[in-house]
Amino acid sequence: MTRLRTAILISGRGSNMDALIAAARDPSFPAEIALVLSNRPDAPGLAKAKATGVATAAVDHKIYAGREEFERSLQLVLETYRIEFICLAGFLRMFTPWFVGLWRGRMLNIHPALLPSYRGLDTHERALADGVKIHGATVHFVVPEMDEGPIVAQAAVPVLDDDTPQTLAARVLAQEHVIYPMALRLVASGAVRIDIGRPRRTGWIASQPRTGSWLWATPYARGVISPTSPSRRSETTGRTRR
Ligand code: GRF
Repeated sequence: MTRLRTAILISGRGSNMDALIAAARDPSFPAEIALVLSNRPDAPGLAKAKATGVATAAVDHKIYAGREEFERSLQLVLETYRIEFICLAGFLRMFTPWFVGLWRGRMLNIHPALLPSYRGLDTHERALADGVKIHGATVHFVVPEMDEGPIVAQAAVPVLDDDTPQTLAARVLAQEHVIYPMALRLVASGAVRIDIGRPRRTGWIASQPRTGSWLWATPYARGVISPTSPSRRSETTGRTRR
């Protein structure tokens, strides 16, 4: 089985990175983690990745004059490692439309909220301030607009009366570690594709009675990414569908 050569891009501790690396240790997982790349040479996640034997690299954004110069270096490293797919996991840089266009339909992000609610930062604080009863996390394809793009999977968790931003963040993070590998598996195996203009189809929903959380994933991530190729290439992996 050919596995999708995937890079994880991080800026910090890399707990989602850990979850993806752990899942990809299974030889039947359809993606292999071929590189962990950070914009911060001192990111704690880089050392952890190195310890697991995964190739690592750092491209320090601070030394570049602008975003596109930085992204050109990133792209060079990604090409050197023959990367086919990107998972953003706590990568704290916005991309230009140029870079997003290069990886159109081949880049996932995880966001600590139930999108389209709570885009941006401080999601847990804002959810608590609003008094919402359900919060969660979302894995979505990356488009030029921040925290938008077709949704692949979500997990919902209850918000408890005595939650602090930290306790809520911990409950959400535990679910992030479940849905990110699940979403990458679905996309890399071709089970999920971006579906242009079709009504959203119900995928499957699974409850986790022990944690009281809910997971949701769909075979169609409703598309805002337009089709390019006249051939039968998959919108998600760039590979030709059989
Ligand atoms: C996670 O909460 C993720 O949703 C957000 O950034 C955080 C990264 O955490 N995008 P980690 O580095 O994966 O532990």
